[in-house]
Order: sequence, then C-alpha cells, then structure tokens
Amino acid sequence: MAEFDLSATFIPSLHKPSSLLPIARHRQSLLYLIETYPVTIVVGQTGSGKTTQIPQYLEQAGWCAEGKIIAVTQPRRVAATTVAIRVAEEMDCKIGEEVGYSIRFEDVTSSKTRIKFLTDGLLLREALVDPLLSRYSVIMVDEAHERSLSTDVLLGVLKKILKKRRNDLRIIISSATLQAEEFLNFFAGDAEMQSNLKQEPQSAVTLDDLIAQGGQKPNPTSNEIGQIISLEGRTYPVDILYLENPAEDYVEKAVQTVFDIHTKEPDGDILVFLTGREEIDNAVQRISERAASLHPRAQALMALPLYAGLSTEQQMYVFEEAPENTRKVIFSTNIAEASITIDGIVYVVDTGFVKLRAFNPLTGIETLTATPVSKASATQRAGRAGRTRPGKCFRLYTEPNYQQLSESTIPEIQRSNLAPVILQLKALGIDNIVRFPFLTSPPSELIIRALEVLYSLGALDTYTKLTQPLGTRMAELAVEPMMAKTLLSSQTFGCVSEILTIAAMTSLGGTIWVPHDGEKKKMETARRKFAVEEGDHITLLNIYQAFITKGKKEARFCHDHYLNFKALTRAVSIRAQLKRYLERFGIPIPESLSSNPNLQPLSVGGPDKGEQIRRCLTTGYFAHAARMQPDGTFRNVAGGTVLYAHPSSLMFNRKAEWVVFHEVMEMGGKSYVRDVSRIEKGWLVEYAPEFYRFA
Ligand code: CDP
Ligand code: MG
Repeated sequence: MAEFDLSATFIPSLHKPSSLLPIARHRQSLLYLIETYPVTIVVGQTGSGKTTQIPQYLEQAGWCAEGKIIAVTQPRRVAATTVAIRVAEEMDCKIGEEVGYSIRFEDVTSSKTRIKFLTDGLLLREALVDPLLSRYSVIMVDEAHERSLSTDVLLGVLKKILKKRRNDLRIIISSATLQAEEFLNFFAGDAEMQSNLKQEPQSAVTLDDLIAQGGQKPNPTSNEIGQIISLEGRTYPVDILYLENPAEDYVEKAVQTVFDIHTKEPDGDILVFLTGREEIDNAVQRISERAASLHPRAQALMALPLYAGLSTEQQMYVFEEAPENTRKVIFSTNIAEASITIDGIVYVVDTGFVKLRAFNPLTGIETLTATPVSKASATQRAGRAGRTRPGKCFRLYTEPNYQQLSESTIPEIQRSNLAPVILQLKALGIDNIVRFPFLTSPPSELIIRALEVLYSLGALDTYTKLTQPLGTRMAELAVEPMMAKTLLSSQTFGCVSEILTIAAMTSLGGTIWVPHDGEKKKMETARRKFAVEEGDHITLLNIYQAFITKGKKEARFCHDHYLNFKALTRAVSIRAQLKRYLERFGIPIPESLSSNPNLQPLSVGGPDKGEQIRRCLTTGYFAHAARMQPDGTFRNVAGGTVLYAHPSSLMFNRKAEWVVFHEVMEMGGKSYVRDVSRIEKGWLVEYAPEFYRFA
C-alpha cells in the first residue's frame, strides 16, 4: 500500500483562523467596554489581532447600522493599505467595497464601505468638512504608541469632539506598548490642566512583564470616560545577542549577519531593521550578489525590501510564504516594528537606527536623520522574533551602547515643523493653539516659528487669525502650506497649469527615476534630455509633458528613458485631484501646454513663462531659499547650515546664485536639497517682505 503522503493530503490554510488569535478570547469584553464607555484603550502585543479583528467584531455587532462607518486610523500609508487589503480578504469582499482605505491622493472606498482604514492625517482633514466626524460610529486610533504628529493632534481633536455633543461616538485607542494610562488620563483629565502637565518618563515595564502578571496591569485605571483592556498574547523567549565591538558600517554588518544566520542557524525567516530605502535597496542587492556563492544544494536565500515608497503589490510579497527550501529575509524600515506583522520571523537583526524627522526652528529646515533607537523601540523590535517560537535578536551594537539609549522616542510633535498642523487647527476653528489639549505640548519655539511662516505666507493675519480666502484655501488643499501658497499664487503669474504639474511631480518624492542595473551613466544622459538651466522644477514639468504626450501610449518610452511609469501615472492622478480643488475655488485653469514630441527641453512658452513659474515658486518657498557658495555648496539664509545639491538635481555641479528648494534630505550625515530652481535675490524681499525684512 502506498504510503500516506501528508503533504499531498493536506493543503496549508491560507490564513491562520482568526479564532486562534489572542484577541478572540476578549471579543465579548471588548464589545462590552466599547458599548459602555466613550473611550476604550486596547493594549496588546503586535500580531494579537487588534487592527484586523476589532473592526470586524464591531461590524458584526451592529456598529455599522444606519449607514455608519468604522474608521481605523494608521500613522503610515503602507499600514493603511496592506491592512485594508487583508481585512477585505478575510471578509471575502473586494477592496473598496465593504472594506476600503483612503490615503492622501488615493481613495479606495465607495458608498458601500463600512470599514475604512485611513491615515490619521486624512481623518483630520475630513474634520474640516465634517467637524464632528458624524459619519463614523467608532474611530479606532491605531498605533497610538507611535505618537505620530497627526495621531497626537487627532487625539486632541477627538477629545474636543467627545466633549461637544457627540455622546454616540466611540473611540478606541490601540497601542502596542504601555502608554495606556497616559492615554486614559488624557481623555479623563481637564483640557487646560492636561496641556500643562509635564510628560512623565515612560515606565520601564515591558509588555512581557505585563503578560507575566496575567495580562492585567496592576490597578487598571478606570473611570466613567474609559477603560483599559490588555490582550495577553503568547510570546516566546527571545535571546538577545550584542556585538562585542561597534560595527563601522551597519549595512555591511547586517548583510554579514544575515549570511551567518543563514548558514549556521536552523530554519526561520529573518527581519532586518534598516533606516531607509537607499540602505534597504543596497542590502537587498548585496544579498542577491552574494547568494550566488552559496552551495548550489544549500537552502536558498530570498531578500525582500519593505518601505513606504513601494507599490502595494511589492509590499504584499513580504507576507507570502517563501518557496520551498528558501529562507526569506526582509529588510525593512521601522514599519515592521509594530504596524505590520510578518509571520514566520524567527531572527531579528537590529541595526539600532531609525530615521526620525527633526525640525530646527532656527534654520527652518526639517531633516530626516538616522538616529539611534530608544530602548522601547529596541525591545519592540526584538519581540518580533518571538511570535511563533523562540527566536533570536542580533543587535548590531554593544551592550553598553544599549544602556545609553533613551527610554522612549520623543513624540513627533516635539520635533516637527508645526506649520501644517497649526494651519489645520486654525481651519478647524481652534484659535488658541496654546490651550489646545495636546497629549504632550510642543515647545514654544516650534509654535512661534510656525506662526511666523504662516503669517509670511499670508495664511494668518497679525492677530494670527486665518485669512480669507487664502488661509482657508491653503488649509483645504492637500499639500503642505508652502506648496499650497504656490498653487494659490499661480493665477497671478499666469501659470496655474504648470504649477499644478509641478505640485504633483514634487509630491512623488524622488521616485521618478528607475536606474536599470549598471546603467547609471545612461540614466544620467536620459535625465539630461529633460533638463533646463532654470532648475529642477521646470525639468519636472518637461518630464510630465513628455509622459502625457508619449509615455502613456508607448510601452517602451518609460523604460527607454529610465522613468517610473507607475510614479508618473500617480502624478497624473494627483494633478487631477489638485485641479479639482482649484476648480472648486473658482480658479480658471487654462490647459495650454504644447506637446513636446522631440523631447527638446521646453522653453515653457517663452522665457517669461519660465520666470513667472520661478517667481511663483518663490511666493511659497521663500523660507527654503539658499545661496550658492564658491565651493558649490549652499547656505540657507537664516543660518550657516551647509546644504548640498542632491545628485539627482540639475544644480549638482552647476553654478547658480540664489535658489529655492522643495525639500531637504539627509544621507550619510549630509543635508541634500532636492528639487532646486534658480531665483533672483530681489524676489525674496518682493514676495516675503516680512520674512526678509532684515535683507
Ligand atoms: O494589530 P495587531 O498587531 O494586534 O495584529 P493584526 O495586524 O490584526 O494581525 C493579526 C494577524 O493577522 C497576525 O497573525 C498577522 O500576521 C496577520 N496579518 C497578515 O497575515 N497579513 C496582513 N496584511 C495583516 C495581518
Ligand atoms: Mg496593528
């Protein structure tokens, strides 16, 4: 008799049944708390089922009756999309029907949508139109422990909404770490008192301690506004290993460690924390190159990237099981620390760094810098290894280094450019920013700087009241204030159509080019075809023009010109959305762009048009002005910050005097400006006399 072949008889289930998730046992008590209290705080290990299950429980319990919607906010766009897709799968519906998501410039919802995943920033934006968020029966603020800028502001707004007339609204705050009491006190406490409270240092209790105590925090805070519920989740022990000596190059060390694990350790996938896209692509490449040296019969190694700029499809690969006889290694940004759970991870490699935003109110420059993680982050990262069985975490730093890390990460609201947030609060009718209930108050220098910039942009008057219609419109436009101002000035300069394109193109964040393997030089040549002397903004305009006249129709066009078809298609859609805003404001949009079949750089309707565009950019970006030094670097006006032209910029290796730039990014400890255009010094004083009154 033939042997009974297990693997031929059983097909592994696609998903682990949701009834096996730790949250399943808490279903009844969760629903009871949500029914009873305005605020429910859910604390549970990443992977316990908070994000994917709670909205489904609510829907089944009738919280979507009478057309109401359940909103689940995420600080990250990637999390909003992947989680929505997953829940739609579990509910066996098409994404955009009962389950949908909405992120900036991408709305995948319909009138059928009952469960909606969206970024916290987008929900704030919805409050502009619907101040009481009355479409929603329940709002779940997910990943609240991350303390993203928008989460913090959203919590303040929700507190205000609860105080006003909405006693039917339910709020769920979900957190992977133990800040539960702080959240509850925030909702329970008096607004004025709260904003003056100093933040207590975070307690050093770990989730494991909590679980060891039977899943209940001692003396859970409870009062009439809300309750805390902890979901015990099974975790396995994780061995933590440190380096004996600090690593010089953590990307290289991470790649070596992955190979060591692969050749010496038993089965199990690997998760590596790096800080950003460039590092991740680089590491994935190094793995693929070196994987060739593995023994042909040895287990294969499959490297996958995970970061925010990936397409939704690319992101979904990381969730798929690796092919037979293959070990999966995922190189990820902080996304995988708590917002996204990947099953099967047994080994974690923690480089100890994360990219954090930091805004300098003196120079007005916001940078995204690789910074050492906090102890709380390191613990959370290590925990990713022990979800399905005992695991190991390789920390690419020494134990004394670990001891020196700060306890927890500083909330974003204390280190960000607050201009967009303050503009939004003003538009929500919250005039007294200082009395707004912030979970943690932002430093006053940040508030002052933001008010100054908004005033110089014309969004606020001398009493810091929102101006009409400029300020209100700026708040409504889904782009940051400097670009909003540029768009709203464009009518005066007769370049509405061109600025719409530039706004859409700059919002792609440097994903326009795709280098093919080893053809960097050719890509440069292709890039030069679109370039114009005036700078990157008009170059972007040329690329867009070429794309809509040729690239959309000819399959090879994008490939031949090293352009990213998907990104450019996104630009077309973003442009259309921005155009609708302007139309709503009654701004006429003459679409008079000539076609550009020969790919000669456009003169954009004569030299004057180019100048008008650059003048218009200056009305929005005057705070991002810089002057070139004899050595080719730039200095911003306000301070001695040394800025380099980004290698992708036209101003790289070129002469200019004064420029404005779209953004600053940090690489290897240097600040690079991206999307740079020449301007005249005199324009700064002309368009921002208050800001440059000293000039
Ligand atoms: O929110 P929380 O971290 O508590 O858990 P979750 O995201 O709801 O995840 C519950 C389960 O669904 C985990 O086992 C995840 O691995 C799985 N999941 C998945 O396989 N694919 C996704 N896109 C999201 C979740
Ligand atoms: Mg979650």
